[in-house]
Amino acid sequence: MNIYHHDRFAEPTQPAPRIETKHRRIQTPIPAPQTRDVLEANRRLFPRVNCYQPPIIWERAEDYQVFDAADNCWIDFSSTAVMTNAGHAHPAIRQALETQAREGMLAQFSFPSEQRVRLAERILNICPPGMEKVYFWTTGSEAIESALRLVRTWGQQRDPKKTHVLTHRGDFHGITLGATQLSGAAASKDWLVSPDQHIHHLPFPGPPDYPDLADPVTLLETGLAQLEEHGIAGSQIAGVFLETMQGWGALSYPVAYLKRLRQWADQHQVLLVFDEIQTGFGRTGRWFGHQHYGVRPDLLCVGKGLSSSLPLAAVIGPASVLDVLSPGAVTTTHAAHPVSCAAALANLEVLEQQNLIDEADRKGQLVGQDLARLQRRFPDQIARVEGRGLLWALHLCNPSTGEADDRLAADWTWSAVRHGVMVFHTMRPTLKICPPLTIPDSALHEGIETLATALQSLVAQSP
Ligand SMILES: Cc1ncc(COP(=O)(O)O)c(C=O)c1O
Repeated sequence: MNIYHHDRFAEPTQPAPRIETKHRRIQTPIPAPQTRDVLEANRRLFPRVNCYQPPIIWERAEDYQVFDAADNCWIDFSSTAVMTNAGHAHPAIRQALETQAREGMLAQFSFPSEQRVRLAERILNICPPGMEKVYFWTTGSEAIESALRLVRTWGQQRDPKKTHVLTHRGDFHGITLGATQLSGAAASKDWLVSPDQHIHHLPFPGPPDYPDLADPVTLLETGLAQLEEHGIAGSQIAGVFLETMQGWGALSYPVAYLKRLRQWADQHQVLLVFDEIQTGFGRTGRWFGHQHYGVRPDLLCVGKGLSSSLPLAAVIGPASVLDVLSPGAVTTTHAAHPVSCAAALANLEVLEQQNLIDEADRKGQLVGQDLARLQRRFPDQIARVEGRGLLWALHLCNPSTGEADDRLAADWTWSAVRHGVMVFHTMRPTLKICPPLTIPDSALHEGIETLATALQSLVAQSP
């Protein structure tokens, strides 16, 4: 796909509509003139690749709102790239961070820490049966990279030929070498000199390739049969990675597809690795996305919403897989810093105490209704509405051609920000709606109504 790249940081400050509501405030041109110098410094100091989101400097963020230095205020529909499930700067998380920073900054991953033990026990309590160990990392990409290593090592210990790994087109699993190769279309691979020949992508049983798929099980079986024709039998496959909802488009799997995949995996001793880095910790209205399907994972990869704040990620699984590496075979420095663990412990407490998992489920129903109405208002621009819980995406199309339209996504993102709703550019033809799970209903409705105003202003300007 031809992705629309645009450096918004280079654009001049533009007039924006003046807005003052309970949830939003826009009182200056956007970006605010007083943030211009810092934006210019961003362009001077950081590579272009970093300059792609709306040019707003997040001076602070609280709960479901983001503020800049001019005290403009946005309803946040981004959750910082789907991370702050418990809301920005939750007082309990902030308190836990402060206390831990004062009392225990000492950290080195290879030396034990009590905070880490407490967090692992807490995580395992909410995981499905069979999960026994937690292998901590700092970023989601590292957790995926590590899961790839575990899966391959586990496979090779059974049979030296059990080295193949499957994933799905359109998946995103991160940016390190292995994670990039596991990713589908979203990750750019043209820089790879010798791509891993033992990673294969199955078709994704949904849009964009199969928008109205009637028989997902046959699609799976055909994909597996084609691999077999190329000499890759089930017995040579060590694992299958998948996002329990594809993040770029908030796309779910058909239940029948995953149930058949589980059956096939059991038949051939293949590990199912569910990437729950975006979908974990309540985001979809369950603790984990896979719970919507009633399908058992072998490994879970988590990150983002695990702490709703500091970098922390993990691979979770049975000892039989997590113990395949010998002591010291892999090392890392920053993983599971006690301050991150303290934040994650507080975060899990908040998610439970405030009933945020059920709340995400309930609010998801409201979002679904509002977005369906939005699509009825703009049928030429919105081709599909996908999502559940508080992970939603509008799939956009060009009104003239009906083709997927990533430029409209970029322009709508910027227009929404200028109208007081913080969304982030997915670099795909989608607009994502994923607010903190704490967002009040009135802010949800207002935010979606504002998206309509922002799109209407684009439609009015178009020739
Ligand atoms: C599903 C999924 N997997 C992996 C990653 C990579 O995580 P990180 O950015 O922490 O490396 C992401 C990040 O967006 C993600 O959404």
